Formats: sequence, C-alpha cells, structure tokens
Amino acid sequence: MSFQVLLRLLHLFAVVAFLGDIAVTAIWRLLADRTREPRVIVYALRLVLITDKYLLMPSSLVLVVTGLLLAHLRDIPIWSIPAYAVAQILFMLSGVLWNLVLRPIQGKQLAIAESLGASGERFDEYLLLTKRWLRWGILTMVCAFGSMALMVLARDT
Ligand code: HEM
Repeated sequence: MSFQVLLRLLHLFAVVAFLGDIAVTAIWRLLADRTREPRVIVYALRLVLITDKYLLMPSSLVLVVTGLLLAHLRDIPIWSIPAYAVAQILFMLSGVLWNLVLRPIQGKQLAIAESLGASGERFDEYLLLTKRWLRWGILTMVCAFGSMALMVLARDT
C-alpha cells in the first residue's frame, strides 16, 4: 500500500469518526433530554465531553494533517480550487461554532443538570438551552457535512 493510499484511508477514517461523532452525539443528547431524568441527562452530557475529547478533537486533527499532506503530495492547490477552499472554510466554521457556541452551552447545561433536584426546578431553563444548542448544532452539522460533500465534488473539478 502506497503512502498516499494510507493517507487517504486515514483521512476517510477520520471523516467517519468526525461526522459520526457529531451526528450520534446530537441524537443521544436529545433522547436523554426526553427522559427528563437528571441522572440520565448528566450521564449523556458527560459522555459528550468524553467523545468530544477522544473522537471529535483527534479526528479533526487527523483530517487537517492528512488533508494537507495529501494536497502537498498530489499537488492539489486547495486554496485555488473553489470546492476545496469552501470545504475548508466550512470545516473551520464548524470548529468555531463548536468552540464558541456549542461547548459553552453544553457546559452551562451540565452545571444546571447536576443541580437539578427531584423538583426539576430549573428544567425549563435547561430545555431553552437545548433549543438554542439544537439551532446552532444544525448549522454546525450543515457546515461539517457540507464540507464533506464539497471534498467529494472537488475531485471532479
Ligand atoms: C484542513 C482540512 C482538510 C484538508 C486540507 C483536506 C484535503 C483533502 C484533499 C487534498 C483531498 C484529496 C485526496 C486525494 O484525492 O487523494 C481530500 C479528500 C477528501 N476529504 Fe478532505 N480535507 C480536509 C478536511 C476534510 C473534512 C473536514 C472532511 C469531511 C467532513 C473531508 C472529507 C474528504 C473526503 C470524503 C475526501 C475524499 C473525496 C473523494 O475521494 O471523492 N476532508 N481532502
């Protein structure tokens, strides 16, 4: 197996981990909220922190490193080909949204969920944050999945 094929494989494994993590995290978070059970919600939010750390962040790093190496080895001018350029901008935008909007909301929600008593006093506040998280999360997903679509389309340009 050539080095380029190995890099392409790594790039694609990272795509699977990156997009898979984003999609599955959203689903289990929303399902946990539906139980209205503080212990389940706290558990789900803590799992999000773990998968962000061990799946999302490493896969993003692998995407950047293997992507840049592939571009270099294959002489692909990634900033001159519009599809690659926009794909990269969307990828960066998804990272900015995740870091500046989604992560802080998740942090606030974990703090609220940990303080939720049997009365569920702050649950409405928690759910409002879920709504906001979902709106921004959908935009982040559009950026991340759009980035993948453009990377695939870029090959034909
Ligand atoms: C800085 C970030 C990135 C750079 C520099 C980059 C660069 C590249 C390059 C140069 C290729 C062509 C490889 C080849 O033909 O041998 C490629 C392919 C690909 N990239 Fe990226 N990439 C990045 C991020 C991403 C992200 C975030 C995704 C998905 C969310 C992604 C998905 C793909 C896919 C699916 C292919 C295969 C396309 C095909 O073979 O049809 N890449 N990338």
